[in-house]
Amino acid sequence: RITMHYKFDIKLQNVTRLCQTKSIVTVNGQFPGPTITAREGDRLLVKVVNNVQYNVSIHWHGVRQLRSGWADGPAYITQCPIQTGQSYVYNFTVTGQRGTLFWHAHISWLRVTLYGPIVILPKRGVPYPFPQPYKEVPIIFGEWWKADTERIINQALQTGGAPNISDAFTINGLPGPLYNCSAKDTFILKVKPGKTYMLRLINAALNDELFFSIANHNLTVVDADAVYVKPFKTNTVLITPGQTTNVLLKTKNHHPNATFLMAARPYSTGPAAFDNSTTSGILEYHLPSNSTKKTNKLPLLKPSLPIFNDTTFATNFNKKLRSLANSNFPAKVPQRVDRRFFFTVGLGLIPCTNPNGTCQGPNNTMLAAAVNNVSFVMPNTALLQAHFFNQSKGVYTTDFPANPPFKFNYTGNPPSNIMVSSGTKVVVLPFNTSVELVMQDTSIIGAESHPLHLHGFNFFVLAQGFGNFNPNKDPAKFNLVDPAERNTVGVPSGGWVAIRFLADNPGVWFMHCHLEVHTSWGLKMVWIVMDGNRRNQKLPPPPSDLPKC
Ligand code: C2O
Repeated sequence: RITMHYKFDIKLQNVTRLCQTKSIVTVNGQFPGPTITAREGDRLLVKVVNNVQYNVSIHWHGVRQLRSGWADGPAYITQCPIQTGQSYVYNFTVTGQRGTLFWHAHISWLRVTLYGPIVILPKRGVPYPFPQPYKEVPIIFGEWWKADTERIINQALQTGGAPNISDAFTINGLPGPLYNCSAKDTFILKVKPGKTYMLRLINAALNDELFFSIANHNLTVVDADAVYVKPFKTNTVLITPGQTTNVLLKTKNHHPNATFLMAARPYSTGPAAFDNSTTSGILEYHLPSNSTKKTNKLPLLKPSLPIFNDTTFATNFNKKLRSLANSNFPAKVPQRVDRRFFFTVGLGLIPCTNPNGTCQGPNNTMLAAAVNNVSFVMPNTALLQAHFFNQSKGVYTTDFPANPPFKFNYTGNPPSNIMVSSGTKVVVLPFNTSVELVMQDTSIIGAESHPLHLHGFNFFVLAQGFGNFNPNKDPAKFNLVDPAERNTVGVPSGGWVAIRFLADNPGVWFMHCHLEVHTSWGLKMVWIVMDGNRRNQKLPPPPSDLPKC
């Protein structure tokens, strides 16, 4: 087994975008951060040294962390944050996964600039189940804010209002030519004719699902969330924050005498204001050596993206994602179910707690978000430690409801009471419990798609639908043969999604909406999976450098 060493020095760096220079939190002064490359089966040791005034923690998004929950990273869930001047070595092995994932800060809104790709190659000598690409290129989407995002979210949380939106979306940290004062900050992908490129798409944006397309080129989707899928062709990819998608780009056989815009902009169904601007980069063909043309004189062709609320496109795209489900890559869909859960996810209100006066919600309330009407309250200490050392008292309770505490029409008229409760509540699962979970968008304050992300597991996406989930009829539609296996799924706007996972990974696992604003408002909950009886079914004790609160 190979061990890869990385050092992440968290430090400030001046970066200029949209004609303004800003000091941002980075890894090693790089923005976006460095790419971590490993092969399936490798061990990673990432030493994170905190040299900024903020508390920091890093999450390896989508890495299963099989019995290495101490390295998962969400602050106050699996670890206390790394304080200024301190360090922590994340120690984990990448098992049973190959594809693209990403790492990002997992505390407050620091992931706005602290993120980078994770590339997991197949084991040496093992080919991809699709044509070997000529080159592989990570394409990571983000958001750029002129203002200080920590100030923005803290202010919003105090007054209970919605935070401002970002000033630009970015491709590999660059907003691109469609924004003012940004033409020189454009990602350019130079390609040769007649080759296959693999683009490793990652949505690291804080708050927006994105459509992505390249003018005059089809993309073939081959992988989602580091699991191969049955290849399919599309003009446009839909990618939610927290999702990763590998696509093959076959270039034209001859120099096309044009350059091509690649562009991404939001898919949004929410009631709130959002930024409908477009980030773009350029796909440029190397000119033949005997050419006298100039690339910048060629016509620039633009893609056409679906309109911002095109739920039909979103639904059809997601339906095409199917596991390979063949003998080399079987889909291990749990066929039995031990426990069924029904979670409502959506926004609500809580009473105003702003000590300096009024809140921005109706009748002096604050915006909140909840799962089964519980808006999750972050503890002051790490849940995993509290669980491991049997110190749950005063930290968390195990009464997270398996079903919503009341009945109403989730997609119809809002109930008279849209107030939510709050608490640090968890679900405890015995080792190897097979879980079926239906997540229903409450649509109380507007129907909105929520990309739910589960730490520590992949789950299978059995079905999705619109309106209220019908427990008598809808299970007949569940795909138990070749459903997509992933770590983040959009709960459809005004609808539901059904997933299954096997709780074979002991530890404390966060599940939350990957729209950062919704996470901040409480759209998150925690599963605790108990140890099994065998030795290789137990979580080992914490490393000695695990940060203290
Ligand atoms: Cu990428 Cu808890 O998230």
